[in-house]
Amino acid sequence: MAHRVTLIPGDGIGPEVAEAARRVIEATGVEIQWDMQEAGAAVMRAEGTPLPERVLRSIEATRTALKGPITTPVGTGFRSVNVALRQELDLFASVRPAQSLPGIPSRYSEVDLVVLRENTEDLYAGIEFMVASKQLARLRELVRDLLGIEIPWDAGATVKPISVTGTRRIVRFAFDFARRNGRKKVTVGHKANIMRYSDGLFLFTAAAESASYLDIEFEECQVDELAYRLVVEPETLDVLLLPNLYGDILSDLCAGMVGGLGLAPGANLGWEYAVFEPVHGSAPDIAGKALANPTAIILSGAMMLDHLGEKDAGRAVREGVRTALAEGAVRTRDLGGSASTEEMAQAIAGATRSALATL
Ligand code: NAI
Ligand code: MG
Repeated sequence: MAHRVTLIPGDGIGPEVAEAARRVIEATGVEIQWDMQEAGAAVMRAEGTPLPERVLRSIEATRTALKGPITTPVGTGFRSVNVALRQELDLFASVRPAQSLPGIPSRYSEVDLVVLRENTEDLYAGIEFMVASKQLARLRELVRDLLGIEIPWDAGATVKPISVTGTRRIVRFAFDFARRNGRKKVTVGHKANIMRYSDGLFLFTAAAESASYLDIEFEECQVDELAYRLVVEPETLDVLLLPNLYGDILSDLCAGMVGGLGLAPGANLGWEYAVFEPVHGSAPDIAGKALANPTAIILSGAMMLDHLGEKDAGRAVREGVRTALAEGAVRTRDLGGSASTEEMAQAIAGATRSALATL
């Protein structure tokens, strides 16, 4: 039976790279019935919201989505569609592997890391107080009464909730992930010395849970030191487990270590639903010019095939990407070449078909 998958092309370079991913996934021969759902900037104009209910209903029905990036306008009233989607569907775990690929110019070789990011809490929970608002005035009063601390009159504020329940599930996910994938160590990044009741709780909950996983090494590291270690001794790290904000930042850093955002895939997973999307955004600077590298969303598609139980197809796509990149004849501009998005997709689709034949 065909798998049903929601396809959200997104905006900016989204539609270009999503089409490329569809082409490569179709090259594996796995039967997929796509439910195409537009979201983002264009939909905002037509339907009054960038994330219409129909998109959520579709994912609730198919349980699986492949998604292109969606623009979040800075500093306007609009919440990020990407963050809203993760919260609405309770996609609490973000999985972002960073692995060196053959023939890719990069400052590092043989990087093999996975960033696991808590996806629903922390400073991204959406608890915001606008400067000079009534809500902020009450918050100031409350904080003055409860803590004797004066918030400056001209400040805005964002609240950082981190719960035991929210932390426990991502910690268990991380250790189970490490076990399933033959990984040796989980390193928790935090700033528990400064934020004792949010990051501190994350760290102590992780440490307590780690006692049930004696086969996987547990390590803790302050997130600033972790950033330093990533650039000077990445080989000492394996799986990184991070609260939402640090996970967002360090996953872009890790993408940079393996050749750039054009290559970095990701998955957002919950108990019920899974949304696969690249780490990169909508890249307005190159949108509509056929310059985008589709590899990141193609590799996200490979993660999706694994998730659907199509392990051979997933492997073939990863092999196809490695072969196409190693040959190096067809490359997009971010990798120093001049191929278009579609040419890159064609090369990867061809190599995927060959890989499938030899599996
Ligand atoms: P970005 O990731 O879109 O772009 C950063 C840089 O990387 C740009 O120079 C861009 O041209 C380049 N780049 C990104 N993807 C590429 C690809 N596939 N091939 C070649 N080059 C690529 O980050 P930026 O500019 O900070 O964000 C743009 C918009 O995307 C913002 O509105 C942001 O909120 C949104 N965004 C959406 C995400 C999502 O849908 N999950 C994730 C990150 C950002
Ligand atoms: Mg990001």
